[in-house]
Amino acid sequence: MLNRFSSRQRQALRLGWRFIYPYRKQALLALLALIITAAITLSMGQGIRLLVDQGFMTQSPHLLNQSIGLFLLLVLALAIGTFSRFYLVSWIGERCVADIRQQVFDHLIYLHPGFFESNRSSEIQSRLTADTTLLQSVIGSSLSLFLRNALMVLGGIVLLFVTNPKLTSIVVLALPLVLAPILIFGRRVRSLSRQSQDRVADVGSYVAETLGQIKTVQAYNHQATDQRRFGTTVEAAFEVARQRILQRAWLITLVIVLVLGAVGVMLWVGGMDVIAGRISGGELAAFVFYSLIVGSAFGTLSEVIGELQRAAGAAERIGELLAASSEIIAPTQGLQRSATRVSGRVELQAVGFAYPSRPTPPAIDGLSLTVEPGETLALVGPSGAGKSTLFDLLLRFYDPQQGCILLDGQDISRLDPQDLRRHFALVAQSPALFFGTVEDNIRYGRADATVEQVEAAARSAHAHEFILQLPKGYQTHLGDAGLGLSGGQRQRLAIARALLVDAPILLLDEATSALDAQSEHLIQQALPTLMSGRTTLVIAHRLATVQHADRIAVIDQGRLVAIGTHRQLIVESPLYARLAALQFNVVTQL
Ligand SMILES: Nc1ncnc2c1ncn2[C@@H]1O[C@H](COP(=O)(O)OP(=O)(O)OP(=O)(O)O)[C@@H](O)[C@H]1O
Ligand SMILES: [Mg+2]
Repeated sequence: MLNRFSSRQRQALRLGWRFIYPYRKQALLALLALIITAAITLSMGQGIRLLVDQGFMTQSPHLLNQSIGLFLLLVLALAIGTFSRFYLVSWIGERCVADIRQQVFDHLIYLHPGFFESNRSSEIQSRLTADTTLLQSVIGSSLSLFLRNALMVLGGIVLLFVTNPKLTSIVVLALPLVLAPILIFGRRVRSLSRQSQDRVADVGSYVAETLGQIKTVQAYNHQATDQRRFGTTVEAAFEVARQRILQRAWLITLVIVLVLGAVGVMLWVGGMDVIAGRISGGELAAFVFYSLIVGSAFGTLSEVIGELQRAAGAAERIGELLAASSEIIAPTQGLQRSATRVSGRVELQAVGFAYPSRPTPPAIDGLSLTVEPGETLALVGPSGAGKSTLFDLLLRFYDPQQGCILLDGQDISRLDPQDLRRHFALVAQSPALFFGTVEDNIRYGRADATVEQVEAAARSAHAHEFILQLPKGYQTHLGDAGLGLSGGQRQRLAIARALLVDAPILLLDEATSALDAQSEHLIQQALPTLMSGRTTLVIAHRLATVQHADRIAVIDQGRLVAIGTHRQLIVESPLYARLAALQFNVVTQL
């Protein structure tokens, strides 16, 4: 237990060190300022002793002037030292946290999508914000408080011994009494604070989920239930926090009682000695000063240790994020580079794939398929057949467990994912738009496109007309996730974005499903132009889309059940005939 505890803390320290290391010069200066200020504070005790014994006792104004002069000098040095220490230490804290946030984000953005399925994004968000804030307060203050107070305790005890060994023995005897509760309660505080942060993250994710779907919530009059559930989450967070602060309150109280109790005993013994003339008044004053310093430093230490332990938990969680490695990577050996512009031949060879979170049944089951350069292949099949999953595999969001996928004859698992994805333009099933202007959103995949190119893409996607009707045209700001546009408008923007990147392979996932008959008709007319010279895979739920395709692949339960033209399939594939009769007719009539 003790071993694991310390190994975790070592891990936290290593993480801290890794981020502080680039600023070791500043850290060294801060440490210097810290030592100097601690030394000055400690020397004040000697000043008090001189003041009492020489200034007051000898009744000499000259000596008093000298003592006060020295005192003021020390105060000046202390002020300068404190300024440097505070500025430098806080600077390092803020700097490290900025670096940590950046590094964690840089790391996350390249991780395979599967990672975000097994880790809620709200949890990750809380690690990026709450945990880093905690680390910042530790690096930027608690750590320095810890060092300073540890120095005070050590220096104070040494000076206590110098001043009066007998009284000091009382302080030293009291030490284990104080240390024991610190260790016991400190450990409880630490485990509770980890739980506490998890509960707070739950609160955050509940809010995000509910408010993000506010229309559905209100449409189903689900508010009361949500209020109740949210109440439970909030109360759970409160309960854990209450236990944590209870333990912490005990910790602080015990320390105060023990430390100040010891000081009381000491004052009594020392007072007796002064009365008996065994020590001077100045000695006792200095002694009280030091024991107060040691006592308060101990109190601060016990609080700060709790904080440091909390930070160890935070560092651990951030370390976990940084340690997560992407499962979709460029091979270290046998890495190949694809041609600058591939011809667009896509070949699936006996591909088998199951989502890691759902091993059976496989989402794709021994599927083989070849798409020739420039060909348009429509994928049709019942819902859940695995059509969208095929796109995920082509883009290497996941790697298949069996078989392989070839692009222009190259196994895509031998390619760098970024190199591979350059060749694809994707319009996803639920088009993703981002906070920003309409133009930013179209330009998403190609930042260097000219305004004319953006407009041309928008025209081809039949988005230009409605964009011009927006309040500020192409400069209109969209809310989060493209809020403020209709479903069909969103899809047309997504199509324009895909067209602008001008990739050799176009992946359309039911891209026209949310369009009204008029816009769909326009896009259908444009499709031949869009598809010419490109390999196009289009997941279709509509007859119009299917008719533009050179061939149609019928997918069911992850398997390819038939492939051919509309005419062939109507005759040969009962499933296709049924789909065509039901789905296409129904959908086209809608
Ligand atoms: N992230 C995931 N984790 C686990 N299973 C998944 C995941 N995504 C999809 N599946 C499952 O894989 C199967 C294929 O899903 P896919 O999204 O490819 O279907 P689809 O053919 O695109 O259907 P639709 O026409 O409704 O869009 C389904 O059974 C689905 O439940
Ligand atoms: Mg789908």
